[in-house]
Amino acid sequence: MNIKGKHYRTIWVKKNDKRVIQIIDQRSLPHKFVVENLKFVEDAAQAIKDMHVRGAGLIGATAGYGMYLASLQAPKNNFNAFMARAGKQLKNTRPTAVNLAWAVDRQLNAIKQSKNIADKIKIAFETANNIADEDAEYCRMIGEHGLKIIKAISRRKKGAPVNILTHCNAGWLAFVDYGSATAPIYAAHDAGIKVHIWVDETRPRSQGAKLTAWELLNHGVPHHIIADNVGGHLMQHKMVDMCIVGTDRTTYTGDVANKIGTYLKALSAKANGVPFYVALPSSTFDWKMRDGVKEIPIEERGSEEVVYMDGLHNGRVEKVLITPKGSPAANYGFDVTPAKYITELITERGICKANAKSILNLYPEHKS
Ligand code: MRU
Repeated sequence: MNIKGKHYRTIWVKKNDKRVIQIIDQRSLPHKFVVENLKFVEDAAQAIKDMHVRGAGLIGATAGYGMYLASLQAPKNNFNAFMARAGKQLKNTRPTAVNLAWAVDRQLNAIKQSKNIADKIKIAFETANNIADEDAEYCRMIGEHGLKIIKAISRRKKGAPVNILTHCNAGWLAFVDYGSATAPIYAAHDAGIKVHIWVDETRPRSQGAKLTAWELLNHGVPHHIIADNVGGHLMQHKMVDMCIVGTDRTTYTGDVANKIGTYLKALSAKANGVPFYVALPSSTFDWKMRDGVKEIPIEERGSEEVVYMDGLHNGRVEKVLITPKGSPAANYGFDVTPAKYITELITERGICKANAKSILNLYPEHKS
């Protein structure tokens, strides 16, 4: 993606220093653009846990590079045990996005292929780069498939703007590039199709208001930020043509875990006949889980994210308490939208129904 004319990914290897990985510290957006260096696996783990990086795809890519950094730190005489510990440390940072464990396991399997330490480090580097490149490419392909859906609605509306509601940030900031839910939006906008995006604020961390809005603004896509509870009203009044969201883990039966509040939007979409799409690369499928509501681990984060908000005041970012001092707060990070509320899934291989048969037809290698 371009920021002020310069192309950025969300994570990359530092130019002229392969031992350093660089990320955009998303905690400072939209007010400041800060690049941070990761040198050790501990840095990568902290960046994931404290959400310097976030979003399922980018969490996976950071875990991939975290394992590469661990391979640079690992003692020669205890290499495999060190790597296994590093993998556990990374996996323990956040529970819901399955891309994290997927990337760690992919690295552990890859480095098994050689007994030679120098080769293992080389393999870890290549695997991390492959995970990142694949993530970007898959999101680009999601964009191509999703574009067809937006095109069809635009045709039906005789070229009037297609109103799309999205939740949280499933944009390029949540991946290595393009985004999942935003990839079709960018593809449509770039193809000259008129779109207008309703951006759910997404409390408590406001990824919609802070990150998705910043992305759309930079790309010149028309949008409005809305408070989290507005979507139902807009859908009732035919002001939403479709919803597209991302996902942190999708069961092979089509249940979707995504940022808290997604489920309520899906219920409203169903009640109002608005199609509800979920965009995801295959790294976000959990091929073992059948029942999302029962099985997907839901992250609970600290209550300070609910009781405080931050924003720009007199040129400085300040944090303010917005609740009565002493009132406790609960902070569930994700919810699960059962497959029956989802119109279709948009993947890198194409579009399918949210059920096991349709998903496994696209991914037959997971049938067993
Ligand atoms: O807590 P976050 O910001 O990591 O949550 C991100 C989301 O829920 C996104 O919608 C999601 O990751 C899907 S797109 C990768």
